Parts: sequence; C-alpha cells; structure tokens
Amino acid sequence: MASVVLAYSGGLDTSVAIRWIKEHYDLDVITLTIDVGNDRDLPAIAARAEQIGAIKALVVDARADFVRYFVWPALQAGAIYENQYPLATALARPLIARLLVEVARAEGAVAVAHGCTGKGNDQVRFDVSINTLAPDLKIIAPVREWSMTRDNEIAYAAEHTIPITATNASPYSVDQNLWGRSVETGILEDPWEEPPADVYEWTSGPENAPREAAYVEITFQHGIPVALNGEEVESLRLIETLNTLAGSYGIGRIDAIENRLVGIKSREVYEAPASTVLHAAHRALESMTLSRDQTRFKEIVAAEYARLVYNGQWYSALHQDLATYVQSTQRFVSGVVRVKLTNGQCTVVGRKSEHSLYSHSLATYDTGDQFDHNAALGFIKLWGLPLTTQAQAQLLPSLGIEGNLLEQAK
Ligand code: ARG
Repeated sequence: MASVVLAYSGGLDTSVAIRWIKEHYDLDVITLTIDVGNDRDLPAIAARAEQIGAIKALVVDARADFVRYFVWPALQAGAIYENQYPLATALARPLIARLLVEVARAEGAVAVAHGCTGKGNDQVRFDVSINTLAPDLKIIAPVREWSMTRDNEIAYAAEHTIPITATNASPYSVDQNLWGRSVETGILEDPWEEPPADVYEWTSGPENAPREAAYVEITFQHGIPVALNGEEVESLRLIETLNTLAGSYGIGRIDAIENRLVGIKSREVYEAPASTVLHAAHRALESMTLSRDQTRFKEIVAAEYARLVYNGQWYSALHQDLATYVQSTQRFVSGVVRVKLTNGQCTVVGRKSEHSLYSHSLATYDTGDQFDHNAALGFIKLWGLPLTTQAQAQLLPSLGIEGNLLEQAK
C-alpha cells in the first residue's frame, strides 16, 4: 500500500491523525518523531505510534543539526521577530520539513503529513518548505481538514482506543525545542490576564530567584558561543546549561502580542532563557567589534532575517543572500562577554575582544587622552552646515515651540 510520512509529536492531534489518515486516505502511516531538544520520552512516543497503527515509527535526533544550521545562524543574525520572539518554533520547522522529505524519499512515500491547524504560522512554514523542496509530494494536514473540536478528538480517541497522555489534558498548546518554549490558548487568549504560574515550566518566578547573582563569561568565536567561564562547552550542553541557570533566575519570560503571517494578532507566552542571554551577550560583543555603520545596517538585516524565518521563507534566495552577509559581519565577532544574572534580568557587565574597536585612549576623560578636541570644532561646523543653511533660508520661523518659554515659565 502507498504510504505517508507523518510528523508525529505524540500529542493528541497527531495521535488521532494516525488513525484518521488511514481511514480517510487509505494510506499506510509512517511516523517521524524529530528531537530538536523538546525533552520527551522518544521511545515511548514511537511505541505509542505503533500501538495506534503506524506501520513504522522513526525517531531522529536532529539536535546537533538544529543548532548548527538554524540556531547559531539566527543568533549571529540577531534574529528576533518583532523585537520579542527569538523564533524557536519558526526555526525548527524548515528542518522538520527537510527531514519529512528525506524520509518520504527513503521510504518511497507519496505524501507527508503534519498536525498544524489552519490558522497558525506553522502550516505555512511546513507547506511552503515542503513544496519548495519536493513539489511532487502531496501534503496532508488532518487538523486543517477535519472539523473536530478538542472534545470531538477526545471522543474519537476513545472510540478508536487511542491512548491519551497527561500532556494531552493540559489547557495550553505548547511547542518547545532547545531554543525556547511557546505557550498559547486557554486563559492566555485574554490579553489582559496575567499568565498563571502553571504556564511556565522552564523558568521559576523572578521572585524565587537565588538571592546571590550569578556571573557567566561567554566566549564567542565568529559570533558563535563556544565556552562558558573559560571552559569549552559543546553547543547542545552550552544551551542546556544556560536554559537551566538563567531559567532558575526567571530570565527569558516573554509575554507578547504577535502579528501572525495569516493576518491575526495572537497572545504568546515564551520561555527562552538561553536565547535571551545569548542574544544579549552576542549583541554586546557586536557593539564592540562592528563599526557604527555595520551595526546600523545589520539591524535592518536582522529584522528582515527574523521576518523571513517567521514567514516560512527559509528555503529562499533572500535567505541565502542575507545569511552570506551575516557570515561576513561575524569575521571579528570573537571575544568574551560577562553577564550578570539576577531576578528576571540578564545584564551585560563586561566585554573584551582582540578585535575590539573600543579605544581607551580615544574614549578616556582622564590622562592619556588622544582624541583631537580641536578637530571637533571643524567637524561640528560642517556637520551642522546643512541645518544652519536651511534654517536661515526656510525654517527659522517654524522651528520653535509656540510662544516664549521664558515668558511661559514665569
Ligand atoms: N507563535 C510562534 C510561532 O509562530 C509559536 C508557535 C507555536 N506553535 C505551536 N504549534 N504551538 O512561531
């Protein structure tokens, strides 16, 4: 029988989907569960897939590739969507799409399937990526196609003896990987309601943070973190360590209204301790090693990069172009940043680099000052020349605040 490869998380939607696809499409279902650092019992998930009726249940550990090809480039780019969201879910989607296609090829499947709803960003990211990589593969999105409520799904599961787990009973919709965790739905749909404590799993409340601040020195090489406190640490462990440590200080909680690609605003709660710390540290090192013009232009690129990742355009020429630019900017972004972790806050308190553009003799107000103070006079004259010229010719009558401030102050 022809087959379909289903991206399987083990949750309610995709568990029901195994049976539903078989019923409605008459295809054998091969499940693919991908580990991007979501902290789940993978063998148990695979066993459940087979129990529900998958002819094969594959598990792939993609954590190293996720970090190397998706997370680090996004960190180097400074990619944060709408200045709030470090893009954890959005970054994992093109990787999952790529693996779905690879497995479909290896298994000779005619289709791939995912459990996205019809009103989120993830369906767009999956479908666009899959269509780009493999236009001949059919895409089945059961949750988008069936019109079952959550209760319908639970009833369907009961009818078909599909086991429901504790996570399926959670009032929230959660997606997580090593770069961050996102929580939606339930009470969070009221943007006025403060997220209740049970929303958070990676971070403790800032009020419960350790009394003593923690200091961490992060070493970067070409914009990639390679060591903590002077000790080389492998990428995965570096992120895990920071997630745990910064999480214990309540760092990386983000409560945001976000503009979805599909046109709606949604309320998102994120936990992203490691990415919050690493973005702050990386930015601090860049401010020391990039020129003013590089910094200004890179901010524009960062926003565009974040937007394209969010909008599912990973496999695009624009992405390749921007990624090449970003790599070039990272040539001298090497050095060490010291951050201080206190309740809910990560503060950069020190930075050093062999390639630093900071010059003490130019910056100092103490002895040893090499800055040419006289040159400032001529500079100011020419810098302001267009303004003084235009003010005389056009603007003087309209530049002021209405009336006379001295008079009004009386
Ligand atoms: N709003 C975020 C994004 O669009 C998170 C989505 C989480 N996905 C999910 N299926 N719960 O990337």
